[in-house]
Formats: sequence, structure tokens, C-alpha cells
Amino acid sequence: MSEHILIGVAWPYANGPLHLGHIAGAYLPADIFARYHRLKGDDVLMVSGSDQHGTPITIRAEQESTSPREIASKYHRQFVDCWQKLGISFDLFTTTDTENHAQVTHDIFLTLLDKGYIYKGKMLGAYCSGCQRFLPDRYLEGTCPYCGFAKARGDQCDECGKPLEPSSLGDVHCFLCSTPAQFEMKEHFFLRLSAFQDNLQAWLKEQSHWRRHVLSGTQRFLNEGLKDRAITRDINWGVPVPQPGFENKRIYVWFEAVIGYLSASKEWAKLRGDDTAWRAFWDGEAKSFYFVGKDNLFFHTLIWPAMLMGYGGLNLPYNVPVNEFLTIEGRRLSTSRNWAIWLPDYLERYDPDPLRYALSAGMPETSDSNFSWDKFLHRNNDELVAAYGNLAHRVLTFACRNFAGVVPSPGELDEQSQALLHKAEATLNKVDEELHGCNFREALRCAMSLAQEANRYLDVQSPWKVIKEKPDIAAMSIFTVLSVLSALKTVLYPFLPFSSEKLHALLGFTGNVQEAGWKIDPPPPGQKILQPEPLFIKLDDSIVEQETSRIGNVSY
Ligand code: MF3
Ligand code: ZN
Repeated sequence: MSEHILIGVAWPYANGPLHLGHIAGAYLPADIFARYHRLKGDDVLMVSGSDQHGTPITIRAEQESTSPREIASKYHRQFVDCWQKLGISFDLFTTTDTENHAQVTHDIFLTLLDKGYIYKGKMLGAYCSGCQRFLPDRYLEGTCPYCGFAKARGDQCDECGKPLEPSSLGDVHCFLCSTPAQFEMKEHFFLRLSAFQDNLQAWLKEQSHWRRHVLSGTQRFLNEGLKDRAITRDINWGVPVPQPGFENKRIYVWFEAVIGYLSASKEWAKLRGDDTAWRAFWDGEAKSFYFVGKDNLFFHTLIWPAMLMGYGGLNLPYNVPVNEFLTIEGRRLSTSRNWAIWLPDYLERYDPDPLRYALSAGMPETSDSNFSWDKFLHRNNDELVAAYGNLAHRVLTFACRNFAGVVPSPGELDEQSQALLHKAEATLNKVDEELHGCNFREALRCAMSLAQEANRYLDVQSPWKVIKEKPDIAAMSIFTVLSVLSALKTVLYPFLPFSSEKLHALLGFTGNVQEAGWKIDPPPPGQKILQPEPLFIKLDDSIVEQETSRIGNVSY
């Protein structure tokens, strides 16, 4: 029975390039999950877009003396290009700077206002007499009350990582012109988050299928008690506030960005000419999965669910499989120190599948994990090339030479061959189960163990030794391994879509892997196979040195 699966992926701020932390944290697991469900024949809607509002964008625009829209569209184009090259298969990747998004945001805002979940109140705001404008939290700088770091920002200290109240900073001044900030009470709208405490707690209790650290992280916020939050700001870049007297304010970026999941679904429906098509992904039996970075947890397991509860009639998240952090060469990623590996750089130099493989094999699902170029090289050369790519190459080449380029007839399968084919079947089921439960790392490990098993089988059978005297035995073993390769291109497709498509074609199949579906499809005897070409290329050891020396150097 096919299901409706909504996959929401974090909206990246369009103020700088993507890096491997983003990919391992959200985009890759989301894409693996989407491809898996499409293979299973489920209806998938995977949406996201660039987050074009908020101070990350305006600060960047000011630094580069351009407009926020200019900055945002530049990076939006870069994101779209990266998704295409890395094979992140969004059904729609839009932006928060659309008319549709503003409309959907206003609908939610006004409904919550109407129901009393949004109310007007007062908040202390900072003003800079030098720049003559109100300063959002991120524009304030001062001394961190926790660690004494002198350049802490109004929203958080980038040194010790603690979230801050702007008024708690010592010597608080404007980040741009250094004028001391003045604080004033200002009128704003607030989200009555406190009203949802009990319902959210009761709902959280039912989510026993969530990852343990996601449950405990969410519970920690609930234990502290949810406080109402201001959802408007004194800025001029963002979604307008649909209330008189608020013309000079905008909706707070986080309140509107999470609404993007809904507005993007509606936009997708309109684009395909069926305005109501989004509904099937948002109510009834449909399940929604949100793939976001760890620092976005609160907004997806509490704030967005509260907004949905208040609005009514739409599904709450079914799962939020947040990952832990990815470290780079043993150190915590930091974009300001340029301790990062930038995705556009990677994609300029290497193929997408090896990165997808390395990040999946070491995905930070239950604890932080590390990316190093050394490990990347090893995974590419010793795992992808040696265990998988060479297996395919050896067998396809052999079949081309000795069986006139067609899949040979196996005759009667011996015990080992049967056992290997059973293992392929069992692998399909096990990978299915693991992917279903969002255990990506384990799913990949399991899929790769089939390749290893096939290598052992091939070594024992040694068709190249018996081809002269016992061609039927050779035919049997080649047929068996071709069948296993066919299973591998299926179970590995969510992780390695490019090489899977290639192998699919090499094995003589037409159409694409997704159409073939989640099943074992032994290539029929007599099927013409193609002249083999390598699935992966071996990388030279020298790239480790080259690449590690780049980290922390080039600046963006
Ligand atoms: N732009 C935010 C960030 O990069 C993430 C927003 S995810 C959202 O941290 F969809 F909830 F907005
Ligand atoms: Zn100033």
C-alpha cells in the first residue's frame, strides 16, 4: 500500500555557500529517504527553499554593499546548482521571498491571532543613534556574561555557544558603527507558546520512535518551561506584518521560515496544476519527516508543532531525525574561521557519489562524527572502488569477453550461488527496514556487506579458471554475480544514485532505477549488457595533503 510521505528539509540561509556540515546534517539523509520511498512506490513530496530573510542576509548584504535580495538570489542560484550536481532530488526548492509564501504566512499569522495564540505586547528593543535605526539582536555586540568573550552577539555568544538576551551583554554597542546601544520598550506581536506546554508534552510522550537525543533535547526545553516569544522585529527586510501600525516592522524570520514547508507544498501543487494536491501530504494518514540540523531542533519539535496545533487541521511532524554534528579533521566546524569544506569546491573537483558515500557511512546519527580527507580517500579507494566498482567491472568485462556480451543462462544453481542470492534477498529486506526507520548508516553498512560477500563468492568460484573446462559453472557464477549487482544498484540507489543509474544501464536494463522499483531484478539470460566502464575512479593519495591544507585558508 503506497503512502504519502512529506519530507521537509531545513531552509538554508542564502548568505553563503553550503558546506559538508549542512549536507551530512540534513540534505543527504533527506534525499536518501526520499529516493528510498520513491523506489518503494510511495508518493513523496520533498520541499525546501532558501531562507532569504533575517539578519544573516542583511549583514552579508551590508558587508558587500549590496541589497539583501541580490545576495539571496546569488546564493539561491548556487544552492540549486549544488542540488543538481549532488543529486539532492527536491520536488520543489523555492524561496521565502515569494508572494505565495507571504500569503500563507499571513493566513497562519491571522488565524493564530484570531484564536488568541498571537497577541500584542511590549519588548525591549535596541536603537543605534549612530545608524539611526533599530538593531536586531545579531547587530549588537558586547561582552558575554558567561565566558567574557568581548565580541559576543545579541542573540548568542559564538565563543561559548550560549544563547543570550541582548540586554545581558556588557558594554553593548552597535556591531556596525560601535555606538553604544539604547534600549526602548516597543510594541510587538508575541506567539503564546506557553499555552501549548501541556499539549506539546503529551504529544512528545507518544513519539517513542524518535531518536533518543531528539527526545531528550526536546524534553529539556519543555522542562525549562516554554515562554512566549516575540515574532515581529523592527526591520525592513522580511515578510510584512498584516496589521495596521506595523508597517515598519517585519515578521521574525524563524516564525515565517518554518511556514515554508506548508507554503512550498502549496506552491508545488499550483505548479503541477492541481491546487489541492498538497493536502494529501498534510492530513489523514500522510507522514511528515523533517530533516534539519541539530541547532534547529527547538523550532521543529516545539515551535512549528505549536503553530500547527494552534492553526488546526494539519499533521504534526511524524519524525524529526536530527543528526548530531559533523566535525572536520577532528575540529568543530566554524564558518567564521573557515574551518569547513565548502560544497561548491568539492563538486568542482570530485564526483558526487563518493561524498554521498563517505558522509552516509559516517553519518552523525547518534553521536558526533568526523570527516577527514584521509578517511574519504580510504572509503573511495578501498570500499567504493575495490569492493563495489571492481566487482562490477570484473564481472561485466568477463561477460563481454566470454559470453558475447549477454547475460549467460545459469543452468542449475549450486548451493553457494543459491545462498548468495538468498543473502541478496535478505539484504533487500534488511536495508528496507533500516531505511524505513531512518537508520541510514546501518542501511549502508548492510548493503555494502552484500558486495563483500559477492567478492568472496567470486574468488571461490573463479570463473576465469574454469571457463575453458566447465563453461556452465562459469556461466552460473557470472549470472549469480550479475543478479547480485542488480540488487546492489537497487539497495545502493538511495545513497549512490549516479553510479546506480550507470550500473542499471550497464546491466542492460532500460528506463531508470526508480521505475524498476524496490525489488530484486535478476537480469534475464540473453539480455545484452553494455561495454563496461568504471563506476568509480581511484583517487591519488596526494589529495589528502592538498585538501587538508586548504581548510582554514581560503576565505569567503
Ligand atoms: N535558515 C535556518 C538555518 O540555516 C534554518 C531554517 S529551517 C526552517 O539555520 F525551515 F525552519 F526555517
Ligand atoms: Zn550603529
